[in-house]
Order: sequence, then structure tokens, then C-alpha cells
Amino acid sequence: MADEPINLFEYERAALARLAPMARDYYASGALDEITLRENRAAYDRIALRYHVLADVGVRDTSTPILGRVHPWPVVIAPTAFMRLADPDGEVAVARAAHAEGVTQTISALSTASLEEIAAAVPEGSRWFQLYVFRDRELTRDLVRRAEAAGCTAIELTADTPVLGRRERDARNAFALPPGLSMPNLARLGEGIRAPGTAPGSDSILLQFFAAQVDPALSWRDLDWLCSITSLPVLVKGVVRGDDAARAIEAGAAGVVVSNHGGRQLDTAIATIDALPEVAAAVDGRGAVLVDGGVRRGTDILKAIALGAQAVQIGRPVLWALAVGGEAGVRRMLAILREDFDRAMALAGTPDLASITPDLIVQR
Ligand code: FNR
Ligand code: LAC
Repeated sequence: MADEPINLFEYERAALARLAPMARDYYASGALDEITLRENRAAYDRIALRYHVLADVGVRDTSTPILGRVHPWPVVIAPTAFMRLADPDGEVAVARAAHAEGVTQTISALSTASLEEIAAAVPEGSRWFQLYVFRDRELTRDLVRRAEAAGCTAIELTADTPVLGRRERDARNAFALPPGLSMPNLARLGEGIRAPGTAPGSDSILLQFFAAQVDPALSWRDLDWLCSITSLPVLVKGVVRGDDAARAIEAGAAGVVVSNHGGRQLDTAIATIDALPEVAAAVDGRGAVLVDGGVRRGTDILKAIALGAQAVQIGRPVLWALAVGGEAGVRRMLAILREDFDRAMALAGTPDLASITPDLIVQR
């Protein structure tokens, strides 16, 4: 179709035009002045590529091992909450699309479909679970057990959210889940963030939910605890410093996700692609290194691999494609990104991931 999006930015534009304002603002926004949100993208654009020629790229291999499983290409779906704001099938539609395109889906603790519903719909899908540590440690432990039972093969512990970053658009909208949507993984916490009849302008209900339920005292001790209650590999998500990355690995984490939560937490935080080299050096092959934030093009993936990541995660593009075209939209968006990455590899003279090395990179 002539008017179908042909790149991830076009999915974003189409979705912004289509979504209801409260959902659109929740998905799109970053914290405060949204400087980090913009910077995540701008930092990729500042990197220039010193490509190879005459490199025989007739046969290309985009595959990469992550946590012991070979991924056909180096993209994982980042955990994003409340996918049913975009499409009635929400996380289940994304699970189907991800499976069809050989991509691992990270399920948010705050998903609008339960872990069990997703697992039943796509039993053979590759999935990880994203964990928030709640003040209620029994609930937290129970979530880990449910993730294991649902076939998740890794846990991403989100470490950059002791309190929720303030997204001013959500504050203005008094963001809340519409009637009919809930957080079934957290049923024990009740109707947490349904519109409780709060007066408009009284702030995001999600912000209030986090303040009440998520433990701001989360510390390295909790990482030890988490590693002790599960045999699944644990990735610490939200790391932007080498010292924290090294400490995570030494505490038993299987890797880190270099992330600033898509610019939604600490505004003016360092762009993730700028933080990646220091983190990769500190991990030094002792664990997996992923990066997310602003990845929209095959060349962004190439840059992330060159700077030491095994794979990237994508967040908002999944929501945009889901809003535009449901399951088929997400499939198509993933196929576009995969083709774009394959083409970037060919044009850079790098036929496999091992050949994507730091000397390709020039910082402008
Ligand atoms: C997120 N992110 C996120 N992270 C997490 O650990 N748990 C979560 O529930 C959510 N929820 C969430 C909702 C929405 C609407 C967005 C945009 C993001 C952060 C996410 O995992 C990831 O770090 C960023 O989205 C990556 O940046 P891009 O690809 O969106 O630029
Ligand atoms: C967010 C939380 C849910 O970024 O992670 O909205």
C-alpha cells in the first residue's frame, strides 16, 4: 500500500496521529524537558562510519548469541508497559509478531496481558521478563516464579526507577488506565492505576502507583537476593556507568542493559550510545551487554555493535507499529528494521557481527 510506513519514523508519525491523547503522550514522553529523550537519537546521528570496501559481503550472517541462545539478528523487544493502549491484543499481538520475526520479547511487569495469557497464546515464543521490585517482596518473588513457569528465559531487573521520572505531559493529563485495562500480573495490588476519580491536573496516577508500591530502597543487596531466588540469568537494566556494570557482573548478573529508560527517568542523563563504550569495557566479556534508547535505523544497530553491544532493544517503535497495524504492523516494522540492518552491514563491508569493530566509528 502506497501509504504504509516505510521506516520507523513514519510508524511514529502515523501512530501519533492515530492514538488518543493520553496514550500518545504516555508512550511518547520523556522526563521533564525531554533532553535525554532527544539526545538518545542525536548521539547516534553524531557518529560517522568508516566503512570497508571490497569486503565480499555476498553472504551475510546477522546472527548473534545472547545468553546462550542464537538470535537470528541482534534486536530484542524492550519491556514497555500497557500495550493494550495501542491495540486490543496488546502484548499478545507483539508476542506473535516477535516470534514470527525471530525476536525475543521482554514482557513488562506492567503488561496489560498476563504472563500466562502471553505464554498460552505463543508457547514457543522466546521471552524474557522485566521485573520491578515491589515493597511487597512476596509479590515480587511470586512474579519471578510466574515468569519462570511462563517460559521466560531471563529476568531484566530495572534498576533506574527507584521513583518514577516525572513526565509532565502525563501530569497534565492525570494519566490513568482507561476502564477495561488492568495490570493482571499485579492483581494483588488491586486496581492500582485505574482512574480513581482524581481531579484532572492532579498528576499521573502511574507516578503515584510507583511511589506507593515500588521500593525506592532497592540496592545491590536486592540483586543478590534476586540472583538467589532464581536460576534464570539476570540482566540489570538502566546501567550507564562502568563501575555499576562491573559491580552488577561481580554480584552475579549475567549482563547489563545500557539504558536510560528511553529518556523517561533522569533528564539530562547521558545518551546511551555515549555510555556504551565504558560499560562494555568494564564488563569485558564477562556478561552480555545490550543497549536501548533511540535505535531506529540499521546503522544505529551497527554502531551499537561496533561499540561493544551484543544486541539492541527497541521500545517505542513497537508501540507505534502496534497502534498503526496491530500484529501485522509490528511484524512489518521488524522486517523493515532487519532489512535495514542487513543492508547497513553490506554497505559497511561487515559480513558478520564479529567484523563490526570499534574502528568503524568516528565521533563527530
Ligand atoms: C518504557 N520502558 C520501560 N522499561 C521497563 O523496564 N519497564 C517498563 O514497564 C517500561 N515501560 C515503558 C513504557 C513506555 C511507554 C516506554 C516508551 C518505555 C523503557 C523501555 O524498556 C526502553 O528502555 C526504552 O523504551 C528504549 O528507548 P526507545 O527505543 O523507546 O527510544
Ligand atoms: C514507564 C514505566 C512503567 O516508563 O517503566 O512508564
